[in-house]
Amino acid sequence: MKQYYTIQGGQRLEGTVSISGAKNAAVAIIPAAILAGECCVLENLPHIQDVQSLKTIFSMLGCDVEFTRGDCLKIDPRGINTSDVTFKEVSSMRASSYLLGAMLGSYGEVELALPGGCVIGQRPIDQHIKGMRALGAKVYMDESRNVVRAQATRLRGAEIFFDVVSVGATINVMLAACKAEGQTILQNVAKEPHVVDVANFLNMMGASIRGAGTDVIRIQGKQKLHGCNYAVIPDQIETGTYMIAAAATRGDVVIKNVIPTHMEAISAKLMESGARVIEGDDGREYYLRVTMNERPRSVNIKTMVYPGFPTDLQQPMMAYLCTAQGTSVIQENIFENRFNHVKELRRMGAAISISKRTAKVRGVETLHGADISATDLRAGASLIVAGLAASGSTIVRNIEYTDRGYEHLEHKFNALGAKIERVSQD
Ligand code: UD1
Repeated sequence: MKQYYTIQGGQRLEGTVSISGAKNAAVAIIPAAILAGECCVLENLPHIQDVQSLKTIFSMLGCDVEFTRGDCLKIDPRGINTSDVTFKEVSSMRASSYLLGAMLGSYGEVELALPGGCVIGQRPIDQHIKGMRALGAKVYMDESRNVVRAQATRLRGAEIFFDVVSVGATINVMLAACKAEGQTILQNVAKEPHVVDVANFLNMMGASIRGAGTDVIRIQGKQKLHGCNYAVIPDQIETGTYMIAAAATRGDVVIKNVIPTHMEAISAKLMESGARVIEGDDGREYYLRVTMNERPRSVNIKTMVYPGFPTDLQQPMMAYLCTAQGTSVIQENIFENRFNHVKELRRMGAAISISKRTAKVRGVETLHGADISATDLRAGASLIVAGLAASGSTIVRNIEYTDRGYEHLEHKFNALGAKIERVSQD
């Protein structure tokens, strides 16, 4: 059944919101748990569609996987009885690509449906494959069936220099290398917080990974890993979305369960636009308080790999800058097709022009409500931020995209004073 949001815009967001576990860490850590060969319990997992989809995929593989209480997922991979991962659920999400490294490392073979996910660019997996081949795997792409097949009698450590900095390739090759014989050195790797989180989880399972969070990761392969309990980090992108929404509605919001150092690029840009961002520690956890009382000033954004401004927040940030004083220039450097939200923002009165990977956003006084549709996950977040800040009523369609990555979105926003309703369409 199709669902959409109706948003009565113009409400100032005020109060406290708590951030959920990180989607991009969770969707890598769940496949990584296969490598334990024993039961793992993952805590602070977000209830989002991507986690649900992985849970379904794992059950279909014969894995015992269940939520034990609230946000804890128990995964026991000992029942996995196939290396055939070509069913259609797999191609619905990008992160299923992590099954390549996890299954290859665990069982020495896998046949995987090519991963899908948000259409924000071509999203090749050549660097994942390059890494697996360097570790000694035979990898075939069967394009007629849309599957990739990998097999290795024995993985051997290798030195791999990635041609592009890729979160997915870094994590995927790290997964396989944990079980390779000898040392693997990965160079030109991604440094995103979720890369470090996956490495911490693997180390907790007995892996030996050093350097995650820097440009070079060194992995000493182990024959056997073991089960463990692990709590996933808070979601950097969800945090950023609430920070931006607070500023966009000229609000005053305390955002709890965050890691402020992960948010520095976003805090800096919000402050440059005139918002106040305060970091604090209430004795139990860190929080960020974002306050905005005026029309923002325009700022320029260039998306970069971590610790730069994350591409996943480019779209929500653009919605915020639509009502800034002056013209903001936004350059998308990571994905070649991440401006699909622009035509929807224009329907709300935004003045945006695009040339290749650069958007110029001429600030208008206010946006107005419209009937608009999300085209991908973060485009959906962008339209929701725009709808919250706009005058009048907005309908945001295709919210299955935001369901993939935001836990309890309407409940969290409504607790801050927003007026968002989920409507089911027959
Ligand atoms: C991950 C995140 C996504 C985020 C992105 C960039 C997950 C589940 N998703 O996606 O939310 O927007 O990082 O921070 O964590 N590339 C290649 N060859 C490859 C792999 C990537 O050319 O083999 C290119 C991509 O086309 C893209 C760039 O590298 O232009 C970065 O992509 P990558 O970091 O791999 O993104 P994902 O892991 O897909």
